[in-house]
Amino acid sequence: MPTQFEVLFAPAEFDALRHRDLSAAVCVVFDVLRATSSMITALANGAAAIFPVTEIDEALARWRQNPEVLLAGERDGVRIQASQTGGVDFHLGNSPREYTPERVRGKTIVTTTTNGTRALRACAGARAVLVGCFLNLPAIARWLQHTRPPQLWLVGSGTFDQAALEDVLAAGALADLVWPVWGKGEVADSARMARWLYRQKGGDLEKNLAVSRNGRRLLARPELQADVAFCCQQNIYDFAAGLEPDGAIRRWPEA
Ligand code: MLT
Repeated sequence: MPTQFEVLFAPAEFDALRHRDLSAAVCVVFDVLRATSSMITALANGAAAIFPVTEIDEALARWRQNPEVLLAGERDGVRIQASQTGGVDFHLGNSPREYTPERVRGKTIVTTTTNGTRALRACAGARAVLVGCFLNLPAIARWLQHTRPPQLWLVGSGTFDQAALEDVLAAGALADLVWPVWGKGEVADSARMARWLYRQKGGDLEKNLAVSRNGRRLLARPELQADVAFCCQQNIYDFAAGLEPDGAIRRWPEA
């Protein structure tokens, strides 16, 4: 079957997905620094499910329905505080290092972040939506190779309204892994650009992410600095995860 392969760099592009027919498409959404890296880490450490929501109020409404859930996420990079919610402190921020087995095992998490959760929700009409980051790329590639969707879109969450270097690099790394299949079909220039960037600059991820807007922001805060190195780790988790019909992200069994 002929394939189509595209990378979406910035929020304006994923917002436009709402007007496209996604029924044959599989989307892999990247927010390397840090939303998707945190989600994959939470699932690796035993979280049962993660509900990504766009607004703080939506997260609070879910928590009021079920006070057992953990509220998570960030605004301006830091955990959401009582002053932003009318009195409720969120339990977790958006650092993957917070999502330890002790904190998350068996838990359902509701999370809202600036870009990552928005990008995931924008793709919700796709045939499947996977959560992408450097931590589990080969497992994602395996799932794709097994499932062979005719349309493959790698979606960078970006930073505010701009493209993010780390998301494009991760999309390029995945493009490289799946190139033997999707490189043979209809390939958008954006997919070539991401792959070329990864081939040029993917060698020293930590150094290259340090110059990105998000990398600089995290490195400037002593308590968040180590997140950059954490999110640059490759292939430490061997599972794929994605959105399910109830809107939750869960680990998927091997395809
Ligand atoms: C986002 O969703 O925009 C981020 O992951 C931001 C962050 O982690 O600080």
